[in-house]
Amino acid sequence: MDRILIRGGAPLRGQVHIRGSKNSTLPLMAACILAEAPCELHNVPCLHDVFTMDKLLSAMGMTIEFTGRYLTLDASDMGEPLAPYDLVRKMRASFFVLGPLLARYGQAKVSLPGGCAIGTRPVDIHLKGLEALGAHVSIEDGYVLAKGPLKGADITLDFPSVGATENLMMAATRADGVTRISNAAREPEIADLGHFLNSLGAQISGAGTDLITIVGVDELGGGQHTVIPDRVEAGTFLLAGLATHGDVTAQNANADHLSSFLNKLRGTGGEIEIHANRIRVAAPNGLRAVDVTTQPYPGFPTDLQAQMMAMLCVAEGASVIKETVFENRFMQVGELVRMGADIEVDSNAAVVRGVNNLRGAPVMASDLRASAALIVAGLSATKGETAIHRVYHIDRGYERIEERLSALGADIERIQD
Ligand code: EPZ
Repeated sequence: MDRILIRGGAPLRGQVHIRGSKNSTLPLMAACILAEAPCELHNVPCLHDVFTMDKLLSAMGMTIEFTGRYLTLDASDMGEPLAPYDLVRKMRASFFVLGPLLARYGQAKVSLPGGCAIGTRPVDIHLKGLEALGAHVSIEDGYVLAKGPLKGADITLDFPSVGATENLMMAATRADGVTRISNAAREPEIADLGHFLNSLGAQISGAGTDLITIVGVDELGGGQHTVIPDRVEAGTFLLAGLATHGDVTAQNANADHLSSFLNKLRGTGGEIEIHANRIRVAAPNGLRAVDVTTQPYPGFPTDLQAQMMAMLCVAEGASVIKETVFENRFMQVGELVRMGADIEVDSNAAVVRGVNNLRGAPVMASDLRASAALIVAGLSATKGETAIHRVYHIDRGYERIEERLSALGADIERIQD
């Protein structure tokens, strides 16, 4: 398994091009199950999770070509609507195929995704919504068996779940009648999915707001779509720039998708400049502590909580970080403390007291965003070397991160074991 070595302390300077959003690409690929003609996706990131979704859809008979950042997907020869455990267990987002399979084929058998490092991650909201649409849902041997036909309905989500909103929106595109999803998740990736589905012939309004209305149609054709920029990747690189007291510009980033996050960065004393599709940050006068509470969009994103914590480890003062979206998303704390951070955790709150500097150390990646936090911490450490093990976690969501950080002046390399 590869590891990443970092000798920190160098201020990161320069521009980094932000890739297409992982959390938009994955549901967009699943949505192509609904299309009766070929689809094209542009600005697709080259990530392990995208390869896993490719493998799952191909195993079900979809014809996929991945050239550069350009995907063509043709579902016309898809066979059995079955998503097997050995593929779904690798990536929770595989569960997003349930809604489209059920809508297109009238039935589906999809493995339950199981939990992961950040939480048990149940799918009850997905299943309750499908039952509201008239599906018969049962669970047998770890698989969800769902049978249609689907009929439009009014659904209110217990929690604005991103995946449940996406699964139900896709299922409702072919339901008989009108579906309204209330308390829907409002993430930009959901608006992106709604735009794509409408380009295929769906009739969706309100995607990206908390009330989504879908008028069912008989058929969806092919189409093409350009994936929105990855707001979490952009935020990660900007935090690395601030944590190293550098000056970093994220190119092809959409500041509108990061409003709460950028407001928090302003609170730390970071200088933020926004031009069209570029975001520049610098911290000429150091960084101050701020309190952070993660919330569903448009609140502070849970996917940037760990990386923000890493930056606050070297800010002046004490920050309180509350994680309200997942029940176990402080996996980075133990490793940051090993690097000299001063962090105390009590339930879903962490108190981070800034220290003058972190020290490099051998650390273990545990999940995608906790791993990114360790990279931010390693880059800011002014003494020693940080060796991050199990970097496959990082490769799931960041493309060639060591090359792109090196281009910003980081002393970082990947060691292939
Ligand atoms: C999506 O996961 C993202 N993944 C996650 O990003 C992100 O952290 C999350 O949304 C929240 O923004 C993709 O888009 C591929 P949820 P998802 O359903 O859909 C609970 C990353 O790092 N819940 O909004 O799985 C759940 O346990 C990943 O890129 C239920 O209780 O998230 C969690 O506590 C990590 N029952 C909360 O809701 C359900 O049926 C939010 O989960 C569904 C969810």
